[in-house]
Order: sequence, then structure tokens, then C-alpha cells
Amino acid sequence: MPLLTERLTPSAPDLKHAADLLRHGALVSFPTETVYGLGADARQGEAVAGIYAAKGRPSFNPLIVHLGNTASAQKYVEWSATAETLARAFWPGPLTLVLPLRKDHDLSPLVTAGLSTVALRVPAHPTAQALLKQFAGPVAAPSANPSGRISPTTANHVFAGLEGRIAAVVDDGHCTVGLESTIIGFNGDKPLLLRAGGLPTEDIEAVLGITLAHPQNDDITAPGQLTSHYAPNGAVRLNATAPRNDELMLGFGDIAGTLTLSANGNLTEAAANLFGHLHELDAMGGTIAVAPIPMHGLGLAINDRLKRAAAPRS
Ligand code: TXA
Ligand code: MG
Repeated sequence: MPLLTERLTPSAPDLKHAADLLRHGALVSFPTETVYGLGADARQGEAVAGIYAAKGRPSFNPLIVHLGNTASAQKYVEWSATAETLARAFWPGPLTLVLPLRKDHDLSPLVTAGLSTVALRVPAHPTAQALLKQFAGPVAAPSANPSGRISPTTANHVFAGLEGRIAAVVDDGHCTVGLESTIIGFNGDKPLLLRAGGLPTEDIEAVLGITLAHPQNDDITAPGQLTSHYAPNGAVRLNATAPRNDELMLGFGDIAGTLTLSANGNLTEAAANLFGHLHELDAMGGTIAVAPIPMHGLGLAINDRLKRAAAPRS
């Protein structure tokens, strides 16, 4: 039987209600600065299983655990000097750290999909912060979209994908970053870029004074990297300088489109608009031609998401 999905506001009584829902094992979508998350109490196996069920997500894909502050995060993992440097520089914010799980943790094994590591993030969004404070526990939260679909950057996107399958959505407008968090893992002490995202890689490299390595082989479980991901219903054609026939155009810079990510070539603005524009063009129907996006700063993450949107469907 479909649930009645409540639309909550970021007011204190509504957030208290949202925290109570989480305590009772229900699923609550909430805004973060990157995208809307689909939250569940990370300690309750059934609640976490509910995330996989609501999203229709392949169960081998582990989830990010959201915490209110660094001290809470440290309780779950073998903390390191590099983790400390990154947390000091970028938490709260659009950064996820994958670290070895401590033996004494109380997380559901479903959260890590059986891995010996866990992905942790301290989001900066004031409403996410307020909810985490109110809940006072670990919240497992993937992006709040059906598996393989475009990530949600508004509460309406969440309703469109998951209404009837989750208890509530805390509606607090648009996400400002618009791309999922950057994920850093470690091979021993060596930091690895597991997913380009809302925190530019260059910012991390500047703080660490190194060039980030990418995972070299399959023994690192690379995050969510199913090839066809973020897929709109229609086909996507990349690096297009103009639309063909009846294609819709997603523009950037000098190349104007049906919708344009950023007319003045600003990658931060483009990232914030990416998923919303894809949702809108997808609703119009047809093939989406996408203007070239430069490969620096947030351009890496934008191109990664676009490549997945354009990949042949499985
Ligand atoms: O910005 C974000 O990160 C959003 C918001 C809601 O916080 N969350 C998000 O979650 O994007 P999700 O589940 O869509 O992506 C989490 C990624 C997955 O690709 C998963 O494979 C990876 O994190 N991941 C989680 N735990 C991991 C682990 N132990 N080792 C390697 N990758 C992991
Ligand atoms: Mg996702």
C-alpha cells in the first residue's frame, strides 16, 4: 500500500517530527547542500533495507553515513592524520571520507554492504545540520532518487521519484551545490579520488599538497559507478555545438540552449543547475544535446555525471 508522503518544512516542530520518524525506522528525505538525501537510521537494518527498496537500488552499493560533526564521525572509524586535515578544511561540506570501520560500531551491515570501510559525511546545509542535531545519531542517506535516475535538487524532484514510497520530505528549496559530494578513500595512507563531486579536486589537492591518485584497479570498490546512472528517459548526446533536428539543447557558455547551465561559463553555477535542467529537459521529452563543458574544477564532476547520463542503458 502506498504511503502518504508528508511534505515538512524546516521549522523546529517539523524537524522534531522528522527525527521521530527516523527513530521509528521510517524514511525521510532532507536537503543537503549537494542534493536531497533519503535518510534512515543507520543502526536499524530494516530502515536501511527500506532505502534500498524505495530506491530499487542494487544492494551491493554501500551508503554514506551523515553525522552532525567531526567528533561523531570519529567514533565510527580508524581516524588518520590526513582525515583530520581534510575534515578541518572541508567539514561541514560537500566531502565524503571512506575510512576503515571500527570494530565497536553499531551500524547496520547493510549500510556498508558488508565492506570493512564506511563512507562518512558532515553536511553543511543548515536544515541537514538541524535534523542531525535533533536526531542525534547516524543517518544513512543516498541521493533521494530511484536508482539510476537523476539526483534530486528540489523537494519536488523527490516527490516525483519517490512519493508513496517514503514517509516524508523536508522541503527547503533548491540545493546550492547541485552535485553529490566528492568522495575520498584511502589505500593505506594514500588518498584516492573515488568520486569527483561538489568539492573541486583542486581544493583538496591544495590542502594536501599532492596530486590525488585515482583507484587503479577493481580491488577498491569504486563508488556507485554503474555506467548508466543519472539517466534521463531520453537519449543524451555530449559535446554538441548545436542541436540537430528536434533535439533539446543543454547549453553552456557561448553555446545557448533550450536551457543553459551557465551563460557566462561559470562552473559553480553550471553544477547547481545540472540536475534541475536535466529534469526539466527530460520532462519535455526527446534527445538532449549537451554543449562541451571544460575539464577543470567542478567541470570534472559535471562531465562525469553527463557521461553516465549518456551511457547506453543496461
Ligand atoms: O552528496 C552526497 O554524497 C549525497 C548526499 C545525500 O549526501 N549522497 C550520495 O549518496 O550521493 P549515494 O548513495 O548516491 O552515493 C554514495 C556513494 C556510492 O557511489 C557508494 O558506492 C559510495 O558512496 N560508497 C559508500 N560507501 C563506500 C565505501 N565503503 N567504499 C567505497 N565507496 C563507498
Ligand atoms: Mg546517487
